Amino acid sequence: MDNSIRFVLQSAAYIAKKLDPSDEKILQYLFEQCSDYAIMTDGYLPPSSAAVDEFLALPEGKTIQDKFIFGLLAPDDTLIGMLETIRHYPDEKSWWIGLMMLAPEHRGKGLGSQFYQAYETWVAQQKAQFVFLAVLEENQPGFTFWQKLGFEVIRIAPPQQFGNKVHRRYVLRRQVAEGKVPTRLTP
Ligand SMILES: CC(C)(COP(=O)(O)OP(=O)(O)OC[C@H]1O[C@@H](n2cnc3c(N)ncnc32)[C@H](O)[C@@H]1OP(=O)(O)O)[C@@H](O)C(=O)NCCC(=O)NCCS
Repeated sequence: MDNSIRFVLQSAAYIAKKLDPSDEKILQYLFEQCSDYAIMTDGYLPPSSAAVDEFLALPEGKTIQDKFIFGLLAPDDTLIGMLETIRHYPDEKSWWIGLMMLAPEHRGKGLGSQFYQAYETWVAQQKAQFVFLAVLEENQPGFTFWQKLGFEVIRIAPPQQFGNKVHRRYVLRRQVAEGKVPTRLTP
């Protein structure tokens, strides 16, 4: 896998870089820090295989070359967040975000917005026209976060089993801003 992909956030001391399976241990630690999100999603703590599973999980028809896990690195080089994305999914002109999460102590400081905006600038360079994702109906803070970034609901996915829980999800989409950093919508 190509490990050289990296981009800088607006707060330039923070960088995003593509992770590979050799980063499994730090990614697993991040999953464990984000156990609140695993409990909301699955109803239980992240398994010890969470990071390995994340590197392998793919939608039907996609290969490992289509999958990118970006790690968010703090100025001291520790992993404080991740964004997992699939290129050309659900269609050729779009990219899909499967998961984005920040360690709890780094949330609510604008870093998630900056991470997404830097990612969108990068996918625009890859000729993406749309970014898609699905957010759990139960995850109202997450839903608010994506709406403030300009994502719009395009459909509601039927209830689906996740671990011990069943969720409805909003499928959201945003048109990629061309050649400029996407701006936040005012509240
Ligand atoms: C969702 C997440 C990635 C957002 O990153 P973040 O750094 O916390 O978000 P920001 O600080 O950039 O917040 C941007 C806006 O989103 C909204 N937002 C973010 N977290 C929120 C929360 N917990 N409650 C309410 N609104 C929230 C805020 O309104 C904020 O706007 P403001 O600046 O006007 O206050 C992060 O909170 C996270 O990892 N959450 C747990 C995992 C998760 O839910 N991931 C999304 C799965 S779809």
